[in-house]
Amino acid sequence: MLTNKPTIIAITGASASGKSLFAQTIYDELFPELGENGISIIKEDAYYKAQDHIPLAIREQTNYDHPDAFEHELLTEQLHQLTENKTIKSPVYCYKTHTRTTNTIDIAPTPIILVEGILLFSNKALRDSFNMKIYIDTPLDICLIRRIKRDMVERGRSLDSITQQYEKTVRPMYYQHIEPSKSWADIIVTRGGKNRMAIEVIKAKIRQLINK
Ligand code: C5P
Ligand code: MG
Repeated sequence: MLTNKPTIIAITGASASGKSLFAQTIYDELFPELGENGISIIKEDAYYKAQDHIPLAIREQTNYDHPDAFEHELLTEQLHQLTENKTIKSPVYCYKTHTRTTNTIDIAPTPIILVEGILLFSNKALRDSFNMKIYIDTPLDICLIRRIKRDMVERGRSLDSITQQYEKTVRPMYYQHIEPSKSWADIIVTRGGKNRMAIEVIKAKIRQLINK
């Protein structure tokens, strides 16, 4: 049971810019002092729309870099529930089948909630849920190299499918929807999860919020 409303910190930026690493590093380094009742991470990816009704071959062609691919209303609603001290049932997404699994995970409210994903600033109601907005600004060529390696190793993709998707949707949507959303950010972090000073600054701010 929380006595104060949670502080919700959004971390956005291009695919493979280092958002997940940035969030995970803050989480891991604060975990010894805050514990699992003190801090949690929610991924926007979990809120990709379910596509069970669509054949797999068609799902592979979905534009996953457009705001319409996400159920942002559900994410906004669940963040609101957390601020009302309620536990949520967060969806679980599978990158290999391009849809949600039948599982959900329970996430209880914590004083600090980190939310990370590519299009967090694209929806006004969602954007308004955040107490702090961080944009990870990593050069796109660095992101692409990371994305190729990651998608082959972790998401079961071929080099051909990665480059085709990159040209068709990932890159154009970045310029159309992600890069312009930088203007909503309170803080812009270069180099993503490897920016030590930025990690220390955000950790210090979180400690200050917790001790207030
Ligand atoms: O972790 P990251 O921010 O890179 O995850 C978002 C990316 O996942 C998007 O750029 C999107 O192209 C990709 N994606 C995908 N297949 C899906 C869902 C998302 O390649 N089924
Ligand atoms: Mg990620």
